[in-house]
Amino acid sequence: MSLPRLFSGMQPSAASLHLGNYAGALLQWRELQTTHDAVFCVVDLHAITVPQDPAALREQTRRTAAQYIAAGIDPEHSTLFVQSHVSAHAQLAWVLNTITGFGEASRMTQFKDKSSKGGVDAASVGLFTYPMLQAADILLYDAAIVPVGEDQRQHIELTRDLAARFNSRFGDTLVVPEVSILKETAKIYDLQNPGSKMSKSGESPAGILWLLDEDAALVKKVKSAVTDSDGVVAYDPAGKPGVSNLLSILSLLTGETVEALVASFAGLQYGALKGAVADAVVAAFAPIRTRTLELLDDPAELDRLLALNAGRAEEIAEATLTRVYDAVGF
Ligand code: ADP
Ligand code: NA
Repeated sequence: MSLPRLFSGMQPSAASLHLGNYAGALLQWRELQTTHDAVFCVVDLHAITVPQDPAALREQTRRTAAQYIAAGIDPEHSTLFVQSHVSAHAQLAWVLNTITGFGEASRMTQFKDKSSKGGVDAASVGLFTYPMLQAADILLYDAAIVPVGEDQRQHIELTRDLAARFNSRFGDTLVVPEVSILKETAKIYDLQNPGSKMSKSGESPAGILWLLDEDAALVKKVKSAVTDSDGVVAYDPAGKPGVSNLLSILSLLTGETVEALVASFAGLQYGALKGAVADAVVAAFAPIRTRTLELLDDPAELDRLLALNAGRAEEIAEATLTRVYDAVGF
């Protein structure tokens, strides 16, 4: 019996993933790969919709893939590959561009957000057509479900509309996927600005726990996390965002409920909580860092794995592209 197909992508946009990516994506994908035929793609074609340094992009793409493998995405069981290795992505995206309305694409809020800084005139056309490339990623693999954060819902709705439109114009060809929103409970906040989510573009370097940080750096950041002055370990995200974030992190990494953790820290100071969080972060990240560095140290083996996985991806993608090309009259 075949498992339902799942597709998810991640940008190679930083040298390391951070605790938010670990909580909000990696841990959940690691679970989902056991119950799905999972396809995970490092989306380097998407990355160049904004300017990238070529050497850094190449390095980050490899590092991103290595971190996913090190954190438990199994490249023998799941399909983990690099988008630019499979040419069908760009080819299907072109076809989808031709059935997308200009007005429809103009309504995508992520484009409006991302182009708002320099103004629409400074944005690339690639940034504008980003959602149709994302639709191609998903539709090439006949994905039944697409687990994404809430911010991606509009793009997945567009993907569904495009698949249905293609099918109604050209005959039944593409699988219309379901949106599956990742658990919001896993949201992690910046250690220095606990009002904002932990993000690679965070303002304070000390607020972000990178998967590839050395143990000492992780401990230092956790110990200097912003808390408050009342000295009581309690879970109250609105009133005590710093302490609540530390409790969420500890709960996520130990599997203990927040309630049980609060009870166990009764009468103790924030130092005790920070010590426990630091230990848990180091215990979770150190083996991933070690494995990532091993993978990066053996470029031939990493390339072999990525090529093998791209080959598996290409087989599925080419079959879909052939159906699409036949349907449109190529
Ligand atoms: P960033 O915010 O650092 O730019 P991305 O937007 O590249 O991160 O997110 C990649 C994945 O990681 C997404 O699935 C997103 O939902 C998840 N993610 C990112 N930051 C967090 C966070 N602080 N808490 C939980 N999940 C997060
Ligand atoms: Na982001």
